[in-house]
Amino acid sequence: MDMVSTVAEVRARVHQWKKEGKTIGLVPTMGYLHEGHASLMAQARKENDIVIVSIFVNPTQFGENEDLDAYPRDLEHDRALCSRMGADLIFHPQPEEMYQNACTYVNINNLSDHLCGKSRPIHFRGVCTVVSKLLHIAAPDRAYFGQKDAQQLAIIRKMVEDLNFDVEIVGCPIVREDDGLAKSSRNTYLSATERQAALCLSRAVKAGQAASANTTDASAIKKAMEEVILAEPLAKIDYVEVVDGKTMAPVDTVKPGDLAAMAVFIGKTRLIDNFIIGA
Ligand code: PAJ
Repeated sequence: MDMVSTVAEVRARVHQWKKEGKTIGLVPTMGYLHEGHASLMAQARKENDIVIVSIFVNPTQFGENEDLDAYPRDLEHDRALCSRMGADLIFHPQPEEMYQNACTYVNINNLSDHLCGKSRPIHFRGVCTVVSKLLHIAAPDRAYFGQKDAQQLAIIRKMVEDLNFDVEIVGCPIVREDDGLAKSSRNTYLSATERQAALCLSRAVKAGQAASANTTDASAIKKAMEEVILAEPLAKIDYVEVVDGKTMAPVDTVKPGDLAAMAVFIGKTRLIDNFIIGA
């Protein structure tokens, strides 16, 4: 497994692989890889001849007061994990390689007005821009994204449809710690006490799932989730919402495929979790 840092090097290899008739799966990441990322690589490994993993902490998706500089990095550990998962190539560019004098951004309307888009106004513009670039650079047959970032997945599906990218977007289930906490690179920010408090998110998911088995009333599902979070003194709700699974707009009555999602601050760390109604 090789690691390259320039667009030209990725292109040269992709060109050769395509000439040999090989299919390519791309797993975009920001590094500090864990079993959630590994599950995407495993799925990509099953479905493609070649697996490319990108590791790039994308500055354009971080707001001014967010954690760009503090974002955890461990390239040696990431390299070992990618190699263990059978990846063929890591693309690890520096910001200058991706954004030298860039004036063009990909923006998505409507879907980004809700959930995380409300408190992170430029976030999805950055995500759409970098994912567009990665799809152009690696020209994969399939690209893999986690359901953990449900709004991101819905947005990328819509962007790919709207802009006619010739790629299949594959969504993969949320990978959790044994005690239920969704795996996240940001979990590393949590102190031991906060780590315990963070379990309120997965407990809220369970409460929401239980409620949704008995009612289609979105506000009742939302309330069941909120009650769990409000009972945890270290937790502060950013949002708890029940939205249409495709448009991300709030719904009053739920149907299968809709999304119950939340973002919660545990101390200074903002964590997200969600479940799909009827899944
Ligand atoms: P990052 O947070 O590193 O996540 C990379 C991919 O791993 C995303 O598709 C995310 O949904 C998935 N993932 C993270 N935790 C997961 C978990 N516990 N279970 C399943 N999948 C999980 O998301 C990004 O990076 C960036 O926004 C990116 C798409 C790379 C664009 O910069």
